[in-house]
Amino acid sequence: MKQIAVIGSGTMGNGIAHVFAQYGYPVNLIDISADALKKAIGTIEKNLERQVSKQAITEDTRKQTLANITTHTDLRAGVTHADLVVEAATENIDLKLKIFKDLDAFTKPEAILASNTSSISITKIASVTNRPDKVIGMHFMNPVPVMKLVEVIRGYNTSDEVTNTIVGLSKMLEKVPVEVNDYPGFVANRILMPMINEAIYSLYEGVAGVSEIDTVMKLGMAHPMGPLQLADFIGLDVCLSILKVLHDGFGNPKYAPCPLLVNMVQAGHKGVKTGSGFYKYTPGSKELVVADQFK
Ligand code: CAA
Repeated sequence: MKQIAVIGSGTMGNGIAHVFAQYGYPVNLIDISADALKKAIGTIEKNLERQVSKQAITEDTRKQTLANITTHTDLRAGVTHADLVVEAATENIDLKLKIFKDLDAFTKPEAILASNTSSISITKIASVTNRPDKVIGMHFMNPVPVMKLVEVIRGYNTSDEVTNTIVGLSKMLEKVPVEVNDYPGFVANRILMPMINEAIYSLYEGVAGVSEIDTVMKLGMAHPMGPLQLADFIGLDVCLSILKVLHDGFGNPKYAPCPLLVNMVQAGHKGVKTGSGFYKYTPGSKELVVADQFK
């Protein structure tokens, strides 16, 4: 792997670019919005500074990591020379299908096309390309520089060779790859999202309040964040769209999203990114304050 391209500069995209660049890979970070790219570089700078201050990386690594990242607003220019493309665009199937069609046309025929999708079928994404054997899921966890897991998802036609390359590459990034097959939600979200949905149902049905539910799971199960705080962190819209994939994919009512989650997303309370979800968020403050609606 000589050249990596990352599509989408949001939370996941900038974290993925950060990690590849930190481990010495030249990265083209691509987004349609120049503003989003500027913001992403700012986030990467901040996270690198934090790593330097915690002595996790040296000042030289910080500089080299930034030097390894080039930003692009033009997809074709950003992916032409890529050996691996990791797509981390918005979790929308039509958008992803369009991107993979374009990637198939714009990249070298031997390039591997990976998606960081949290639940959309890799087999479906691969079906719009002429290289389904080279399409794979490379699902990083947020925050990408911190979390060790890479869920490696084999589509129906993904080759052993491509799977082994992605497994090896994940290890080069000092991550722990876990190979899974392509079924709705894969493993991570098939297990995580029903837990989050059940926490929301517990709130909705008045079993307990926001802090109480999160405290039970933090102190009782040693989770670093309670499920409601984690839902805010992931994004309530993302949780909802993953639950819909599980519900549609299995046709099982146990995955039906809680009506409270649906309402919150419709009302624009999507968690950390909108400043309000189960908790309210003030920039610069780490204090966890329950949202007014749940007091
Ligand atoms: N970049 C680099 N380093 C970061 C970072 C970032 N973005 N965010 C946190 N860190 C580092 C901190 O510097 C700190 O390092 P040290 O241990 O060396 O001191 C460490 O991570 C812990 O951070 P904090 O002390 O600031 O805060 P914390 O102890 O509360 O941990 C957390 C924060 C790591 C996010 C922790 O709360 C956690 O693990 N939460 C759960 C995260 C999780 O479950 N992620 C998966 C979400 S699901 C997903 O991503 C996939 C999907 O498809 C939905």
